[in-house]
Amino acid sequence: MHSGNICIGGFMCSGKTSVGRELSRRLGWEFLDTDTVIEQRAGMPVPRIFAELGEPVFRRFEFEVVSEAVGGSNRVVSLGGGALVNTELRNRVLANACLVILDVRAETVLCRAERQKGARPLLDSGTVHSLMAKRTSAYAACHLRVATDEFPVNAVADRILANIPLTGTLTGTDTIRAAAETLCVPA
Ligand code: S3P
Repeated sequence: MHSGNICIGGFMCSGKTSVGRELSRRLGWEFLDTDTVIEQRAGMPVPRIFAELGEPVFRRFEFEVVSEAVGGSNRVVSLGGGALVNTELRNRVLANACLVILDVRAETVLCRAERQKGARPLLDSGTVHSLMAKRTSAYAACHLRVATDEFPVNAVADRILANIPLTGTLTGTDTIRAAAETLCVPA
């Protein structure tokens, strides 16, 4: 059994938390949603952290919490959509976890976000397309890329478990790069 971690990344509303929770249930691994840990640490919900402390403070919490999360083992970690923008943090994730990116179309994000208004400070109809374009490079390096738009959580989890290396240990960026080349499948 893989002795590392699985990290789930991707744009807001791609289903990272639901898929991460389902994977952890199936594998019997610990589940961590980094936004939830940040909220516990800050003592307030994410929108309030952005409004009262500012995004740079949120990003500092995020750096700390994600680094700690991938420092453990046998964990499924759902990341916030912006966590991989920081190159140093992205490299830590790639070095310590199998990184799965959930792909989602802008139209799907807008539709899902409508149901959870106010939960995501960076999300409003004017910014989804441009923010998504800016995030392309942050989501480019990964071990597996899975499309989510038309698929229920269970189907996404099936696809992930069928494609990630659950035997052996992923260590070092060379292994990660090799794995990324062989495992990244088009969405
Ligand atoms: C953010 C995504 C959010 C949360 C914060 C910032 C982003 O998480 O971390 O609002 O920069 O994309 P989700 O992707 O889980 O919504």
